[in-house]
Amino acid sequence: NGAAPAAGKEQRLIVVSNRLPVTISKDAQGVYHFKMSSGGLVSALSGCKKTMKFTWIGWPGKEIPEEDRELVNRRLMDEYDCYPVYLADDLADRHYNGFSNSILWPLFHYHPGEMNFDAANWLAYREANMRFADVVAGMVQAGDMVWVQDYHLMLLPMLLRSVISGEGSQGEMVRRELGRVKKGVDKEVVGGMMGMKEEGVATALGVGEEGEDEGVEILDEVAEEGTTSAPAPAVPKKVKRPAFGRGMSQFQKQEAVAKEKGKDGVRIGFFLHTPFPSSEIYRILPVRREILLGVLQCDLIGFHTYDYARHFLSSCTRILGLETMPNGIEHEGRYTQVGTFPIGIDPMQFVDGIREEGIVKRLQALKARFKGCKVIIGVDRLDYIKGVPQKLQSLEIFLSQHPEWVGKVVLVQLAIPSRQDVEEYQNLRACVNELVGRINGRFGTVEFMPIHYLHKSVPIDELTAMYALADACLVTSTRDGMNLVSYEYISSQVDGHGVMILSEFAGAAQSLNGSLIVNPWDLQSTADAIHTALTMTEEAKKSNWEKLFAYVSKYTAEAWGVSFVNELTRLSGHPPSGPSI
Ligand code: ADP
Ligand code: F6P
Repeated sequence: NGAAPAAGKEQRLIVVSNRLPVTISKDAQGVYHFKMSSGGLVSALSGCKKTMKFTWIGWPGKEIPEEDRELVNRRLMDEYDCYPVYLADDLADRHYNGFSNSILWPLFHYHPGEMNFDAANWLAYREANMRFADVVAGMVQAGDMVWVQDYHLMLLPMLLRSVISGEGSQGEMVRRELGRVKKGVDKEVVGGMMGMKEEGVATALGVGEEGEDEGVEILDEVAEEGTTSAPAPAVPKKVKRPAFGRGMSQFQKQEAVAKEKGKDGVRIGFFLHTPFPSSEIYRILPVRREILLGVLQCDLIGFHTYDYARHFLSSCTRILGLETMPNGIEHEGRYTQVGTFPIGIDPMQFVDGIREEGIVKRLQALKARFKGCKVIIGVDRLDYIKGVPQKLQSLEIFLSQHPEWVGKVVLVQLAIPSRQDVEEYQNLRACVNELVGRINGRFGTVEFMPIHYLHKSVPIDELTAMYALADACLVTSTRDGMNLVSYEYISSQVDGHGVMILSEFAGAAQSLNGSLIVNPWDLQSTADAIHTALTMTEEAKKSNWEKLFAYVSKYTAEAWGVSFVNELTRLSGHPPSGPSI
């Protein structure tokens, strides 16, 4: 299967992410503002865009009234090569803040305590995914590749397959259900969606329909007992594998209908930019089955690290009872390959950047400003996963244990505002403000402040100059999918060979050999690493930096994008015959 595009026709790539490289806002005067978005996903895909050709579909950050859409759409297309999925502001709020960033984000980063499950937000998550599916289905053609990004869109692969292959079956069913839900709270549906009435969920998701599912037997005892408090079974009791060639699998049926519509052979890939947690954490999620089933309609699922891929596979075994192979899963007659694709950056942007006249001048000015002082840089979205409080406390310990450094070292901490409508982010902001005030009050003088704290987004040239200035970069994430700030710092240190201090809980720690690796929860170990970084010999710094730069230059954003897309091109929905990635 896997219909190739017609002869002479280009195989198209459609990338779908919640965040677009540009975010639109509207001021009190009704004027629209287009601002570059920040974050690892945008940095990496923008890096790919330099050499790869794709259409980028996503949410522009704001609901736009019908009458303004033509203008806004044209600007998005012409200036940013993007296509918008509009969501009503309330729906977007529930999807983005309410479910994606209040449920999946904390859970995937091992913060279940920050999780606030609300059934209405889950419904909004589904509805937003359905809107994306409608837009993508309208654009997709036979043989296209659709590459879905990140945790905001984990139901999209399943919904997209439904829409393009079965308006009369699953697509209609999902639509009908969403329609019902919008009219009022349907207890049965909401209960089912929360995992309390699994039969309802299985139907809503188009699995387990009579005569349709020759696949696995659902093994989740939690669901069968109608409670969410019992533990999931440790090992599946019984696994019935779908047989290729025996009758028609769900996959084959979908392809047959899609073929009639000229939309067959569409390959769908998914990449998760966050960690995928251990199944012991993942299983806390009330809608754990639905999310897994949503992405299992892909041909290829990618993660930053081997551990995240392994956690995903073991969640599929423990929660869905599916038998997995080291590199993939068979489900409903479809083979989904699972692999590791470590993301990267465009290092030349920084290597060349530090030679640009404007940045060189800015760097000179900063050097003069911090003369006689070592500079440590921290760049984080102000997010509780970034471990900013731990970073500040470690600096405090360092300064108290090494008073000879007071007045001779500063931490420049850039905290990029992020997800400010979510309560946990507001609490974090207050906590960080207090810590900065306390430490500056304790060690500062009229002439000197140990922490220069900026809670704002800074232009990329300013960021590059800061990276180039700093003698060390300090990343203390308590969990982080990869962390591209570390890559950017290394790429900006061609001259200085600055020291990278990196949390062992960032995906980057598995690749960036040559960093000083710390456990951010062990404040003393970070304080010691700060001392080591500030006192390291030039030879040791250079030798570490060379190793780091060799890695960052090889595993770029482009290499990441190309390897994922090449693998997706190769796949056809059946298990590969030879060894895979
Ligand atoms: P996350 O994806 O969690 O935000 P990363 O460290 O992987 O964390 O990526 C952060 C990205 O955001 C980096 O590429 C960084 O350059 C970028 N960034 C930081 N500040 C800004 C800014 N003001 N404007 C645009 N991008 C920024
Ligand atoms: O790294 C995870 C991530 O969600 C990225 O996808 C994104 O670049 C970043 O965090 C920023 O998040 P947001 O889109 O919420 O601003």
